Amino acid sequence: MRSQDLDAPLAMHLAQFTRKGRCHNFHAVPWPSVLDAAPCELAQHYRTLLGADLSRIDASWSGSAVDSFFTPHGPLADAQRKTADAFGADATFFGTSGTTTSNQIALESLRYRGADVLMDCTAHQSLLFAAEAMNVVPTPCAGTIENPCVDIEETANLLAQRVSEGRPFDILVLAATGYDGRKLRLDDALPRLVASSPTTALVIDEAWSALHAFIPSLAGSTALAVASRLSLRAPVLVTHSAHKTMAALRQGSYLHVLGSSSDIEKVRLARYRIHTTSPSWPILASLDLARVHAEQFGAGEFTRAVTLRAKLEAALRENPRTADMLASPRQDPYYDMDPLVLRLYVGPRSRAIKDWLLGEHHVLVTIAGDHLVVRLHFGVTDNDLDALINGLSLLASGSGPSALGPRATSPQGFEPAIGSHSCEYIIPYPPGVPLAWPGELWTDRHATALAQERTRGAEIYYLAAGGGTRRTASSDSMALGTVLHPGAEDKPT
Ligand SMILES: Cc1ncc(COP(=O)(O)O)c(C=O)c1O
Repeated sequence: MRSQDLDAPLAMHLAQFTRKGRCHNFHAVPWPSVLDAAPCELAQHYRTLLGADLSRIDASWSGSAVDSFFTPHGPLADAQRKTADAFGADATFFGTSGTTTSNQIALESLRYRGADVLMDCTAHQSLLFAAEAMNVVPTPCAGTIENPCVDIEETANLLAQRVSEGRPFDILVLAATGYDGRKLRLDDALPRLVASSPTTALVIDEAWSALHAFIPSLAGSTALAVASRLSLRAPVLVTHSAHKTMAALRQGSYLHVLGSSSDIEKVRLARYRIHTTSPSWPILASLDLARVHAEQFGAGEFTRAVTLRAKLEAALRENPRTADMLASPRQDPYYDMDPLVLRLYVGPRSRAIKDWLLGEHHVLVTIAGDHLVVRLHFGVTDNDLDALINGLSLLASGSGPSALGPRATSPQGFEPAIGSHSCEYIIPYPPGVPLAWPGELWTDRHATALAQERTRGAEIYYLAAGGGTRRTASSDSMALGTVLHPGAEDKPT
């Protein structure tokens, strides 16, 4: 049977798509493309284990066959130990269902009935959903509705106020690195926050910056490095989507613990509760390889990628039409941009432009609002860069997409009345960061931001707190669940 005769639509679509050859990927590390840069020996290990031998290692190996996934004593225990050492953690757990699940495990390990959680107002949905059975208060927010960030000073004040009232927060969740390239300056923020409430446990989502631990200029300001310099009286749990910035298979994730043996044991048991009982051994092997790869080549590849970023910026600046795309970074004392990310302003057609770049130029970028987000990571080559620059130049000379792009197919009729409180999470996806939380006052700024997301063709999800996807009329009485809107927590004086 010829492959085109197969009645397997997804498989056939992917076969067709990949026939176009290498995709110029500026979103997350595509592990095969790092092989071009890695020296023969390591590349050979990757090729053998994740290519030719994949069918042999993708099996149900738990227990005595290779190692126990949940209580390892053999090679998996060794691999996790070496990874913890490399990142500066007391323990590291490998995960094979993404940081979505690692975040859930982290919060599960700290959970108890009635726990109070101060949640980063920009947190990824996985953290919000995982915290739902606890009392969640969003951190004070700065920035704009479209571009929010944590108000660190106000958050520190709120933490201190709760300590002085004898009811400190049990957990503080921070979203330290985002899909849009934003990066919380943990070396400045964390000492301030920990000093305000030293008994509060920390969950820090560093989904987009696992690689930074291997870069000399960045290693000292990662969550684990900063936290290990502080005198903490509570555990610190850090999550990394290894697959986003390191040479790991999709869904490969690290969950690191800085804490006592009892804290580590709680994470182990939470992982037992939540993680799939059928872990992927190819993903586990790739997490081990990715650590070796980053140790050997992280620093060198980072320098190379920074040079490519500068080259891209210079090429765009040369042409007055593309120079306009170079966005000036937001000024905030507690936030930086990831040094490997360039954000390009392209206006409300961002999604259509993203689709056009992929369809016409085989270039993959992601978007954040009216910007394209370009990540220069491991494996990006001069050839990839040329393809991107060519696409952007054609765009600037007027040959981009004609329309705004496809409208999303998700239900779109409902939205709260201005001046009412949202009954639900309202989440544009991607990226999965809510535009509004349950209980949040719905303003004309929210309405405008939602309209813009719809125009761009984003999928919009309406989710009641505590689960369910009930569609609520805005006149319904508000079902707050356990989530409080910012105004529900007394402002610190
Ligand atoms: C900040 C943040 N945290 C967590 C996740 C979930 O990571 P994963 O895709 O590995 O499940 C994402 C996904 O993009 C993210 O942007």
